Amino acid sequence: MTDLPIYPLTEEHKMLRDAARDFAEKEIAPIAAEFDESGEFPYTTIKKMGTLGFMGIEVPEEYGGAGMDALAYVLALEEICKVDASHGVIMSVNNSLYCHGILKFGTEEQKKKFITPIATGEAIGAYSLTEPQSGSDAGTMRSRATRDGDFYILNGRKSWVTSGPVADYFVVFMMTDPEKKQKGVSAFLVDGKTPGLTRGKKEPKLGIRASSTSELIFEDCRIPAENRLGAEGEGFKIAMTVLDAGRIGIATQALGIAESAYEAARKYAGEREAFGQPIGAFQGTGFKLADMKTRIEASRLMIYNAALAKDQAKNSGKRYSLEASMAKLFASETAMYVTHQSVQIHGGMGYSKELPVERYFRDAKITEIYEGTSEIQRLVISRIEMEK
Ligand code: CAA
Repeated sequence: MTDLPIYPLTEEHKMLRDAARDFAEKEIAPIAAEFDESGEFPYTTIKKMGTLGFMGIEVPEEYGGAGMDALAYVLALEEICKVDASHGVIMSVNNSLYCHGILKFGTEEQKKKFITPIATGEAIGAYSLTEPQSGSDAGTMRSRATRDGDFYILNGRKSWVTSGPVADYFVVFMMTDPEKKQKGVSAFLVDGKTPGLTRGKKEPKLGIRASSTSELIFEDCRIPAENRLGAEGEGFKIAMTVLDAGRIGIATQALGIAESAYEAARKYAGEREAFGQPIGAFQGTGFKLADMKTRIEASRLMIYNAALAKDQAKNSGKRYSLEASMAKLFASETAMYVTHQSVQIHGGMGYSKELPVERYFRDAKITEIYEGTSEIQRLVISRIEMEK
């Protein structure tokens, strides 16, 4: 039997993947259930992940990163997410929603100042697009950034910000010219200590409970004009470009969750006996396992393919929205399917907090919602296909 996946990994890829696996099993696995239960932010392990280079995998070494490629990033993220999706999303947001956008659109000074502390693990980054009344329809945001000499004054309310309560720096999107709609959106880099920025209530969530999520409230928050990321009016395109990268991260999170849920089900089906044989020997269970495994491997290939497309885009400048959206759509729906079946195969034990299976089930749901719902991924994919 072949050892899936059949994929050409370099020695560096394997070393990084093994380092992430080792860290996740030794340091995260023993605390994952406890932090899920308490909803506390896992500062200590997140800091260690930063010092190991997991928070800026594609960031060049000159800005404190590991200087590796997108495939390396998904390989490491997959290992973290197999053990805990909360650590996984914090890592994904730092790498893709935060660092990727500054790397692509930032000035030399912005890269040094805003990327280095995140890539080296000294600080945490976040991305803030959504508002209470605008989620999927991101271009209808109401928050305003008004130019005042060498400054911008930020006002408004942002919601569902991953790492919002704990982040040191934010990439924030606000309207600079509401009449121009999407073309009136601009992006800003905001230091979390700036007066006028406060964090709203922490969201009580179903899953990924150790990752903190909150509102951000901007009240006459004054930031230097040099903190604008890209040109005025370029913000919506920056937000969308960055989400293409982010969606590969969430697809990988879904893959990691699905893999662990599957592995637990496979083992349980081999051990648990009913009516005189292991339940995996019944076709009803065996066929479930076959479908779970097949969908997981299909997700993996789509994700690795999207990562390769992202790497190629670094030279060609070509968009990889189609690959990223298809990978996120398929992997997140696979995670939901696989975790659902895994709970079912475990029976009562799948419903108990004594096993991590119920946590995988709760964690999987968000992958179909954030960084673009499954409906938005279908919209992106169908628009690209219809424009051909
Ligand atoms: N890359 C580059 N440019 C892009 C792009 C992309 N991926 N997608 C769109 N654009 C450009 C378009 O080319 C267009 O430019 P032109 O006008 O110059 O042609 C412009 O942006 C507007 O595009 P659309 O007309 O397609 O815009 P739309 O209003 O119809 O919206 C959408 C498109 C796909 C629905 C988009 O709004 C979207 O992705 N919505 C979902 C938002 C989302 O994912 N939110 C999650 C936020 S993050 C989060 O979850 C929290 C967290 O912390 C993790």
